[in-house]
Amino acid sequence: MKVIRNIAELRQEIGLMRQANPTREASVGLVPTMGYLHEGHASLMHAAKQQSDIVVLSIFVNPIQFGPNEDFDSYPRDEARDVETARTQGVDIVFIPTVAEMYPQPTQTTVSVSRLTNRLCGASRPGHFDGVTTVVSKLFNIVQPQRAFFGMKDAQQVAVIQQMVNDLNMPVEIVPCPIVREQDGLALSSRNVYLSAEDRQEALVLSKALRAAQEAVDTRHDTTAADIRRILRENIARSSRAVIDYAEIQAFPSLEPLADQEKVHGRDDLLIALAVKFGKTRLIDNTRLQTT
Ligand code: PAJ
Repeated sequence: MKVIRNIAELRQEIGLMRQANPTREASVGLVPTMGYLHEGHASLMHAAKQQSDIVVLSIFVNPIQFGPNEDFDSYPRDEARDVETARTQGVDIVFIPTVAEMYPQPTQTTVSVSRLTNRLCGASRPGHFDGVTTVVSKLFNIVQPQRAFFGMKDAQQVAVIQQMVNDLNMPVEIVPCPIVREQDGLALSSRNVYLSAEDRQEALVLSKALRAAQEAVDTRHDTTAADIRRILRENIARSSRAVIDYAEIQAFPSLEPLADQEKVHGRDDLLIALAVKFGKTRLIDNTRLQTT
């Protein structure tokens, strides 16, 4: 496995690896991350390994997707451990650029997806998705992968990136991968390390709220969007420390919200999504609603 920090060197290495297979051109799978890798990231590397000849993992804490009062400086980092995780997962190249390598001078180009980014995380994190789509475009141009792997943990991110790829005719297949959870239901996240022991316990209200919404749909065939919103809120309110940013139901991948009176049964395109703060730590979680 190679660890590469420089764009020119990365391009050269990928070129060499692709040519090494003379019978057919080898395919490249890209797994973009911000590091501090956990089993969720590992599942993306595993999927990439199964579906690609060469796996490139990028680790880059992207400053332009953090707001001025967000956690860019304190975002957890552990390069040595990440490199070991990548090695264990059979990654071929780990790309770890510096901020100066990715943004050598003040840049003047931003890739921006409009409507899909106005809601949910986009509403509470202005500019966040512009930062994501800009860095992901750069990574696609640098690595030129045939496939790129993203977790449904960040469902809005998947929808936004798929829209960008469609709109700009980028020749890459986006592969969404399922959410990986702790045994007790908490979705894995690099930010879980910020949680105090007490908040870690209370954070279970997120996955419990999603399950409660699903159970309501399973038992009552006339469940409406308003019922789902109420169930989500009631369950999260069981933690006195939880502050709701959003608790929503919408179509996926359009992210069009459902009107309160709309019935959920018979729809196979629904996503329920949560963002909840515990102190300064903002957690997100979501699930596709099963209605049949
Ligand atoms: P990061 O938060 O490091 O996540 C990298 C990838 O891992 C994302 O596609 C995310 O959805 C996925 N992931 C995180 N937790 C997961 C879990 N519990 N189960 C499954 N997948 C999970 O998302 C980013 O970085 C950045 O925005 C990035 C796309 C790298 C652009 O900077």
